[in-house]
Amino acid sequence: MFARVTGTGGYLPGSPVSNDDLAARGVDTSDAWIVERTGIRFRHLAEAGETSCQMAEIAARAALEMAGTTADELDLIIVATSTPDYIFPSTACMLQGALGNKGATAFDVQAVCSGFIHALVIADKFIRSGSHQKALVVGAEVFSRILDWQERGTCVLFGDGAGAVALEASDAPGILSSALHADGSQVGILSVPGQVHGGKIWGDPFLRMEGQAVFKTAVRVLASVAEECCQAAGIHCGEVDWLVPHQANIRIIESTRRKMNLAPEKVVTTVERHGNTSAASVPLALNEAVRDGRIRRGQRVLLEGVGGGFTWGAALLVF
Ligand code: ACO
Repeated sequence: MFARVTGTGGYLPGSPVSNDDLAARGVDTSDAWIVERTGIRFRHLAEAGETSCQMAEIAARAALEMAGTTADELDLIIVATSTPDYIFPSTACMLQGALGNKGATAFDVQAVCSGFIHALVIADKFIRSGSHQKALVVGAEVFSRILDWQERGTCVLFGDGAGAVALEASDAPGILSSALHADGSQVGILSVPGQVHGGKIWGDPFLRMEGQAVFKTAVRVLASVAEECCQAAGIHCGEVDWLVPHQANIRIIESTRRKMNLAPEKVVTTVERHGNTSAASVPLALNEAVRDGRIRRGQRVLLEGVGGGFTWGAALLVF
């Protein structure tokens, strides 16, 4: 029994916001600095009041439509987000309500930028166990709300959006192998170290990052988890048809690509136009490459993510 991707969907709010637009809004930066260090040229930012759940619903409906699945057929809904609408209930339950599904298992997963990979691997395990047949896995984020817009080293890196996949139990291959890891000794290099306490914010409600430590850790773990996943499926990294990596920084993506011995044209990149949309970045990139016809049925696709925690993971699938 495999979990097979039957549909993909994505949503980006509003119009693209360029690096020059950020500078014009008062961020002390330049297009040249951002492009050289990160490869980012544009990102999308949610309107005031636009929420992760609303964006998740649009992406989810597109994925379900491609899959030919109705919301009431779903028996599992997982949303990966670090920017949920509420403290509780989960964004997955809110999405379930918005889609009109009743009775499915529904919960959120919090693994920051590798959240979608974690959610996908969990859904794979539910489906392989035989307990669930039709799953919806979504990554949705409004990181613009947890950025310190006075801190130029972080606020230029992120964008908002949502991506979704529909999964189905199938005899034909689907997800072949996966790996998830974390290193809690690295909590401090990327975090939003605050909480709501007695009606007030306790600590710091904004994203803080040690950029160079994140960069080095990301490069190291992404190459090793790609290798681990390919080995588990009995192939060499160079044999994958597509790499769909987390879209944080073009230099991290390039470094992983070189270590995997992959041609540049086998890597799906959206970071230039989306920025880093955290848990939404991998399903958004997958959706783009599926819908423009690059990723085709029967091809091997390696998805991988890395994020705060530190967390990282990968899933190798036959599309
Ligand atoms: N515009 C102009 N100048 C800037 C900006 C900016 N937006 N941000 C920082 N600078 C300046 C700094 O003030 C500093 O100036 P100084 O030398 O006068 O003090 C200079 O640029 C260098 O700053 P560093 O922080 O040392 O720059 P670095 O080369 O490390 O690049 C970056 C920063 C791009 C964040 C890099 O560390 C990086 O890519 N790290 C990976 C982090 C990442 O991708 N995080 C995404 C989230 S994590 C994830 O998704 C896994």
